[in-house]
Amino acid sequence: MAYKAKFKVWRGDAESGELHDFLVEVNEGEVVLDIIHRLQATQAPDLAVRWNCKAGKCGSCSAEVNGRPRLLCMTRMSTFTEDETVTVTPMRTFPVIRDLVTDVSFNYTKAREIPSFTPPADLAPGDYRMQQVDVERSQEFRKCIECFLCQNTCHVVRDHEDNKESFSGPRFLMRVAELEMHPLDTADRVPAAQEANGLGLCNITKCCTEVCPEHIKITDNALIPMKERVADRKYDPIVWLGNKLFRR
Ligand code: SF4
Ligand code: F3S
Ligand code: FES
Repeated sequence: MAYKAKFKVWRGDAESGELHDFLVEVNEGEVVLDIIHRLQATQAPDLAVRWNCKAGKCGSCSAEVNGRPRLLCMTRMSTFTEDETVTVTPMRTFPVIRDLVTDVSFNYTKAREIPSFTPPADLAPGDYRMQQVDVERSQEFRKCIECFLCQNTCHVVRDHEDNKESFSGPRFLMRVAELEMHPLDTADRVPAAQEANGLGLCNITKCCTEVCPEHIKITDNALIPMKERVADRKYDPIVWLGNKLFRR
């Protein structure tokens, strides 16, 4: 059954902005992105929002709904009661470009800082062999749609702009972990994880894991194992050498 919902949408640019009130029609089965599109069609034609697939797979429509980091296209209006005000704001950790669109280039900078997959120089592509367990481990990390909601949520950068320089964030620490756990990767990822990527700043609050729309266990399966490898290296170099020699 259709009803009218109260919406507050943040509008503005890098300089300033404020919440704007709207009363807008909602139909059964709709998601928040449908309502934003209806606002564009009927009341705010220049409202800026980034989106692409409308299927939870491109990672473009990240924003905050009632203060919670979410994909707009995967947030059903049935999550809210009909008399509830729905507040939509841009991701807080990244600079606003306009309205709900933020500049997420911080993430691309961090991605470029990670050295790429480094297989043994003498191994031809057709000779690659991996255990199924290793394939499955990295497949979980490969589900990432790069929505950057985890990056937006982690308090290390959300509340501390000055940490951005030294912290890659959960998405890219997970990438480092994926490569470090890859049996054919020969690069030594551990020192960089702790130093250049700032793993030591993560205090395992797990907020990143809570907001991941792909339900990747970022903290338990990537960040904590990386921390264990850092500790092994620090306190037991023999374990590290054994791992390298026998390609865990
Ligand atoms: Fe988004 Fe999850 Fe990937 Fe983070 S790990 S960017 S929350 S899909
Ligand atoms: Fe941040 Fe996730 Fe660690 S929220 S502190 S990266 S567990
Ligand atoms: Fe692609 Fe929302 S529009 S994830």
